[in-house]
Amino acid sequence: MDTTRSTVIDGSSTTASPGALFPTTRLRRLRQSPAMRALVRETHLHPSQFILPLFVRPGVSVRQPISSMPGCAQTSVDECVRDAAAAAAAGVGGVILFGIPAAKDAEGSGAWDAHGPVAEAVRAIKAAVPALLVITDVCMCEYTDHGHCGLLDGETVDNDATLALLAREAVMHADAGADIIAPSDMMDGRVAAIRAALDAAGHAQVPIMSYAAKYSSAFYGPFREAAESAPAFGDRRAYQMDPANTDEALREVAQDIAEGADIIMVKPAGAYLDIIRRVKDTTRMPVAAYQVSGEFAMLHAASERGWIDLERAMLESLTAIRRAGADIILTYFAITAARALTAAR
Ligand code: PBG
Repeated sequence: MDTTRSTVIDGSSTTASPGALFPTTRLRRLRQSPAMRALVRETHLHPSQFILPLFVRPGVSVRQPISSMPGCAQTSVDECVRDAAAAAAAGVGGVILFGIPAAKDAEGSGAWDAHGPVAEAVRAIKAAVPALLVITDVCMCEYTDHGHCGLLDGETVDNDATLALLAREAVMHADAGADIIAPSDMMDGRVAAIRAALDAAGHAQVPIMSYAAKYSSAFYGPFREAAESAPAFGDRRAYQMDPANTDEALREVAQDIAEGADIIMVKPAGAYLDIIRRVKDTTRMPVAAYQVSGEFAMLHAASERGWIDLERAMLESLTAIRRAGADIILTYFAITAARALTAAR
């Protein structure tokens, strides 16, 4: 790629002016002091752009730490409300809820249980901290006994039969008061199915944030402990994307937009910055990126060994995701990063 070209706002390219040459031009002039650097900074992080993932399980006063994700835990609804309130107090924009049901079955019926952990958490958080956005992850893998993201037909996930279940789960979440619905299953046609079901149920104003370009990634490892959702056999490569592909991400995104997605997501974030940039330039839609469990775990592990400075690496990784074009970041660092930004001000 020609590195003298930069991308401008309409997605076209233009040659950056070289300006005058050294010694007339000295790029170090604008790096001299914190104030000078702040003046010309191009990318800003703000807590309102962060979304904190939370894992809700049955019970009362339960806080079960997730060993591979320091500081994160599976919690009961009451404890989940405390985390949501802490996020709101730190200025974090929203939370996204994942449920661990009391029991799992082949069709994942816990997914539409109106008294399951997610539904109860939505109601409790909206009552306690109404201004905080509550997003719900819509998928089947936490609810099925086989751990796949939909109904099985033999050893493959039956795409079309799964759509009705996802729609049912989404409507239940909206009925409970969810502000945004976020399908993460990667079935074809799920955004249209969920949009139609939400509209029919009187939730025409509830936006869909689709996990549009979701890759089949090794970086989800710690999450599968967190959500107890590892597939019992096989993997997710027949529905999640091949990490080698970029044009296909644009097709996924275009489909979801055509089906009614309001916000589109790229996931993971750190290893997919090129995809975030391409999606942003191509669509000009609100773009979210998910800094996933493995990205979070790696930064913690390296800092525990004294190999990197956790706070600096955290803020640098979040800045890179924003610089690539993400408007919104889902991150387990949401509260820590929000506090760090506030303290630095
Ligand atoms: C559910 C889902 C997953 C993640 C978010 N939603 C796991 C998966 O697809 O296996 C991963 C999040 C993370 O790793 O932080 N399908």
